[in-house]
Amino acid sequence: MAILSPSILSADYMNMQRDIQQSADCGVKWLHVDIMDGHFVPNLSFGYSMVQSLRKITDQVLDVHLMIDRPIRYVEEFCKAGADYLTIHVEADTQENTLAALDKIAAMGVKPGVVVKPKTPAEAVKPFLSKCALVLVMTVEPGFGGQKFMADMMPKVKQLREMINAENPECHLEVDGGVDLNTCVTCKENGANVLVAGSAYFRAEDKVTFTKEMEK
Ligand code: DX5
Ligand code: ZN
Repeated sequence: MAILSPSILSADYMNMQRDIQQSADCGVKWLHVDIMDGHFVPNLSFGYSMVQSLRKITDQVLDVHLMIDRPIRYVEEFCKAGADYLTIHVEADTQENTLAALDKIAAMGVKPGVVVKPKTPAEAVKPFLSKCALVLVMTVEPGFGGQKFMADMMPKVKQLREMINAENPECHLEVDGGVDLNTCVTCKENGANVLVAGSAYFRAEDKVTFTKEMEK
């Protein structure tokens, strides 16, 4: 069974609490929170005060995706704000600092993870895998919602599923970008078990059915 993690990047920001409550009512267990710094990616979104505010209104799992340069500078703030999972990009710093950031996250009682951009190979995850509770594969270039799903990322998902099964079977494998009711099928077939959906989820008229379909 898969887990749906709707990306609140596509929510209605003036009605965030309504959208979150509605997701909980529709059986959504996780929420994906995209943090962008305008530097690692060419866009800005929210900071840790958003995570803090979300934490006050929901018990759903907060799956926080940091698209920021040298995330080690900020991981403690995001942990304190109430993230459940905190993922950092392998491209965003040196291997040494990424390892140290994952340790910092775990020391704060939060589940750490790494993310790979489309051009980054599965092997780049290897040095970090034993420390990860989640590995996230981008299926679009990070920075914006509503982009086209990159089906050519599926061999990488498959390869990471094999690595995870061999080395750290408890670790989740998540996909993010252009995931909808059609593209989720190949993601699951290739071994992803957490599916981020931004525009597809918030566009769906029947969110109960959407959630069930994604998670089956
Ligand atoms: C992109 C973000 C995604 C985005 C997904 O940089 O990481 O989480 O919100 O949006 P959709 O599902 O619309 O591609
Ligand atoms: Zn994301």
